[in-house]
Amino acid sequence: MKSLIAKYIEEISATRIEDFKDRAAEVEQFRIKFLGRKGVMTELFEQFKTLPNDQKKDMGVALNQLKSAAMAKVEEFKNFVEQAEESSDRHDLTLPADLAPRGSRHVLSVVMNEIIDIFSRIGFTIEESVEIEDDWHLFSALNFPHDHPARDMQDTFFVEKEEGKTEVALRTHTSSVQVRVMETHKPPIRIIAPGRVFRNEAISARAHCIFHQVEALYVDRKVAFADLKQTLLYFAKEMFGEQTQIRLRPSYFPFTEPSAEMDISCNICGGKGCNICKGTGWLEILGCGMVDPNVLDACGIDSKEFTGFALGMGVERMAMLKYQVRDLRLYFENDLRFLHQFDNII
Ligand code: DAH
Repeated sequence: MKSLIAKYIEEISATRIEDFKDRAAEVEQFRIKFLGRKGVMTELFEQFKTLPNDQKKDMGVALNQLKSAAMAKVEEFKNFVEQAEESSDRHDLTLPADLAPRGSRHVLSVVMNEIIDIFSRIGFTIEESVEIEDDWHLFSALNFPHDHPARDMQDTFFVEKEEGKTEVALRTHTSSVQVRVMETHKPPIRIIAPGRVFRNEAISARAHCIFHQVEALYVDRKVAFADLKQTLLYFAKEMFGEQTQIRLRPSYFPFTEPSAEMDISCNICGGKGCNICKGTGWLEILGCGMVDPNVLDACGIDSKEFTGFALGMGVERMAMLKYQVRDLRLYFENDLRFLHQFDNII
């Protein structure tokens, strides 16, 4: 009888639910075999009764072990079957997995990074600076006359404007970073300054009080307008495609002389004229020029020895032209229907 019990214990521990085909039914058969009314346990207890008293103690222990092993196994199998049923109730395991929702970069970050990349490839390094700026770095060092309209409350968010105190404002352009860099670095200087700027404008489809600019500055001996033009052409082709053409129109900025505005051939109609370029075939892209000698001198760089060029562009405008965004407000409203349209751009 002892060896029979040992054989059953071995059989129980070797039985694996994975080998069952019809699991629920086979678990029940297994239970009946060992624990049923006419099962192994009942039969063994019958035999047990007939044993001489001196064998009962040992055999009783062995029988109890067998019973516990059978009960534990049945319990384990039942849990397994139950769980499998539960999970197959809720899930169709043959369905393809749901992809976890992925975040994506904001279109402005993508365009900003693209501009940074294009300039990095020709040796420009990134400079960042403060968004709350004083009058000197924002206007005076950049050759803005004292009565220039950009100093007016209409355009600028002043943080402090007290009699006799230096004026402090949210920066209205990233050109202020030019001044900060030139004051602290000796030429050759070849930097771009990406960042946020602020203007006191009524918010509309075409204007916003917060937007982004990228400024570029190159100062060295013998920097000429031809260097500026070549850099602009390179940038336009990298940004808008190899077929892109540029044109420069004379303009005015206090901190550059001469100054120009750059247009690119319309990337929508290829220059034929459409409603994006208002029939002209050209799109206005950025402002630029040769750094005014007054600016170099104000920043401690000898304008007799060094020359430079600068340019500045609006990132929102670049993104508008590249992806045909018609309303500036969309950039800041966090509407997922808008943002998801750019999921696949890097
Ligand atoms: N700071 C100008 C603006 O905010 C843009 C600009 C124009 C920057 C000409 C420049 C430049 O560096 O040379 O509109």
